[in-house]
Amino acid sequence: MALLLLAALSPIVCHAAASPRDWDCGRGYSIQSLDALNSSVNGRVQVNTPFSLPCFSSYEGQAVAPNATACQAVQKNYASPTFRTEYPGAYMNSQDSMCASDPADQCELDNTNPTDPLAYTGKDCKQGDIPSHYLEVTCACDVKAAFSFSRSSGTPVVVKNSGHDYLSHSSQKGALALWTRNLQKLEYHDAFVPAGCSAGAGHKYAAITTGAGVNCDQAYNFANDNNVTILCAYSETVGISGGWVQTAGHSVLSPVYGLGVDRVLEFHVVTPDGQDLIANACQNQDLFWALRGGGGGTFGVVMQSTHLVEPPIPMVVADIAFTSNSTTLLEWMGIMLEEAAPWADAGWGGHITGSSLIYVNPILSMDAANKSMEKAADYATSHGGSVVFKQFDSFYGFYEEYVAANAVTVGSTHLAGSRLIPRSVLDNEDGRKALTGFLEDIIAAGSSPYVPVSMPTIYKRDGQNTTSTTPAFYSSLWELGVSSTWAWNSTLDQRLAAVEALNNRTAQLEAVTPGGGAYMNEANPFTSDWQESWWGTENYASLLAIKNRYDPDRLLRCWRCVGWEESDVQNSCFNAFNN
Ligand SMILES: Cc1cc2nc3c(=O)[nH]c(=O)nc-3n(C[C@H](O)[C@H](O)[C@H](O)COP(=O)(O)OP(=O)(O)OC[C@H]3O[C@@H](n4cnc5c(N)ncnc54)[C@H](O)[C@@H]3O)c2cc1C
Ligand SMILES: *[C@@H]1O[C@H](CO)[C@@H](O)[C@H](O)[C@H]1NC(C)=O
Ligand SMILES: *[C@@H]1O[C@H](CO)[C@@H](O)[C@H](O)[C@H]1NC(C)=O
Ligand SMILES: *[C@@H]1O[C@H](CO)[C@@H](O)[C@H](O)[C@H]1NC(C)=O
Ligand SMILES: *[C@@H]1O[C@H](CO)[C@@H](O)[C@H](O)[C@H]1NC(C)=O
Ligand SMILES: *[C@@H]1O[C@H](CO)[C@@H](O)[C@H](O)[C@H]1NC(C)=O
Ligand SMILES: *[C@@H]1O[C@H](CO)[C@@H](O)[C@H](O)[C@H]1NC(C)=O
Ligand SMILES: *[C@@H]1O[C@H](CO)[C@@H](O)[C@H](O)[C@H]1NC(C)=O
Ligand SMILES: *[C@@H]1O[C@H](CO)[C@@H](O)[C@H](O)[C@H]1NC(C)=O
Repeated sequence: MALLLLAALSPIVCHAAASPRDWDCGRGYSIQSLDALNSSVNGRVQVNTPFSLPCFSSYEGQAVAPNATACQAVQKNYASPTFRTEYPGAYMNSQDSMCASDPADQCELDNTNPTDPLAYTGKDCKQGDIPSHYLEVTCACDVKAAFSFSRSSGTPVVVKNSGHDYLSHSSQKGALALWTRNLQKLEYHDAFVPAGCSAGAGHKYAAITTGAGVNCDQAYNFANDNNVTILCAYSETVGISGGWVQTAGHSVLSPVYGLGVDRVLEFHVVTPDGQDLIANACQNQDLFWALRGGGGGTFGVVMQSTHLVEPPIPMVVADIAFTSNSTTLLEWMGIMLEEAAPWADAGWGGHITGSSLIYVNPILSMDAANKSMEKAADYATSHGGSVVFKQFDSFYGFYEEYVAANAVTVGSTHLAGSRLIPRSVLDNEDGRKALTGFLEDIIAAGSSPYVPVSMPTIYKRDGQNTTSTTPAFYSSLWELGVSSTWAWNSTLDQRLAAVEALNNRTAQLEAVTPGGGAYMNEANPFTSDWQESWWGTENYASLLAIKNRYDPDRLLRCWRCVGWEESDVQNSCFNAFNN
């Protein structure tokens, strides 16, 4: 009773700048209504409007005044990840913002031509899968208050950071979104000791602490300013502390330096049971293990994470491309398949995109790199292509020239459906034959192979059970991507067909990689054996036990996340696609 009164009487004052932990706001809040939550956070709960709303004259059946200036800005930047990532109600992939199962329930523009008036003239802007409200998280107390509100009212909560999710894990119809983007702490430590560990026991690292909202571009820039290298995604706007590091987090440097989950040293996390915890190798080890691969939006709200860093990493880049037809593309992929194992052993990481590759190597000299890539270089040269080998003094130079300068465009429906390809499949002839059959099929269907080569291969982790992501990561050489899309104005039948095609591809890939797994972040959301594919049965059982310990009331429930139950389907905008 005393706590309840206290919560109602004294609004939360965050002291985020002074300390990330707010010991002064205890557990035991009981916040029953949205208004009570709003007053406890000083009026910071906001209505979460769709990003494209300024173009529309009607919102959820009510007349609204369009705003031409704001609409033009949205149209002009519709495909820009850097523009979208600053909006609590914007997502990169439109399956996250629309209610996929109900084509009438969305507020999308025509992504093929954002000025197309067909999308918004005389149309009602509907909320879709965008959470109804959001609270910009400024400190742990905000999160505790939101969890209390969720527990008392039954309103679901989701964590929204950059909005890159492919599985709609950072959106949810009717939910309260905890928006973390503005948690912008960045701190360099030349001798970081995880809290509660002893420096003498070998726990002392060069490291960088990143607030929950820091994205890869900000992390790369800060690391460079401090003359060190941090691992993050091949995209400027993916968040480093959110879904990337909590699910696996692969980088082109991962073959030699490990995954994000291998390198993270500590999390500060607020769990749904109202605790404000440090999780690392020396305290709350169960939670630490779960956050190293169990997935975002599941075990709590991470306020910040701390990552091991390296000195500047000099490296050679191989940039090889030619213009292919279906025959030469398959021949080229034959070389990719044959060279997969030797290239992994030589330390290469990168991406194959159709008849081109951009690989980096932090181990080989220029000459050795050139020699190692000879077959691919010769094939491209003899088919009128280009071959560039280039030396960089650090990863950062490569990042600026190859990654930042070529940012992806977003704003379409983009369903991913990749599978990790084990070394055992790639380094034997039968396995390569089966994969060739698969590639033949997708090339004949007009798709182009996409292969992130960013699995830990040379990297060896300390033990067998340090992380909870699928163990398949550590025995795979490739992530072979397939994808599917539907048009912004497609019918439900068209959407169902797109998902059926994706499911068929997934089944084909699974048949070629028995016992393998998939990277949840880039996997088919409708994977039927998702627990086994994304974590492995053994890890899943342990993850579920940890989930039940910290979130006994199941306040965090994302689509096929740890702890998801069949009955949750009915509250999801993916319900029409459940298989
Ligand atoms: C263009 C593009 C490029 C990509 N490139 C790569 C790549 O190179 N390597 C790679 O490994 N992956 C890559 N991904 C996948 C990416 O890592 C995932 O989509 C990831 O989930 C994004 O996390 P986020 O926090 O940035 O996004 P969000 O969509 O905001 O969140 C994703 C998930 O994390 C949860 N979450 C976010 N913040 C927190 C927090 N503070 N605490 C708890 N949960 C949180 C959300 O609830 C949600 O479940 C890419 C994705 C896209 C769209
Ligand atoms: C929260 O309170 C503020 C200040 O009173 C108000 O402006 C805002 O509209 C409220 N939010 C909601 C969702 O009602
Ligand atoms: C219209 O949008 C612009 C740009 O976002 C904003 O500055 C302006 O205040 C808005 N106008 C109205 C009337 O809301
Ligand atoms: C791995 O570690 C976690 C966390 O400590 C534990 O719950 C799980 O049982 C372990 N799994 C195995 C196979 O040892
Ligand atoms: C950066 O670090 C490297 C290796 O740790 C060192 O050799 C170099 O002098 C440093 N550069 C600057 C500008 O501090
Ligand atoms: C593809 O290109 C190769 C050479 O570049 C050529 O020999 C072959 O005939 C072409 N095949 C098709 C199907 O166009
Ligand atoms: C690779 O090495 C060969 C043989 O030494 C040389 O002819 C060629 O120019 C090199 N290629 C590049 C792109 O550096
Ligand atoms: C969908 O939009 C496209 C333009 O992007 C248009 O050509 C097409 O006619 C629309 N389809 C329907 C069913 O309205
Ligand atoms: C998926 O596979 C089934 C069974 O092989 C087939 O009947 C169906 O046509 C396929 N669907 C698509 C969209 O490819």
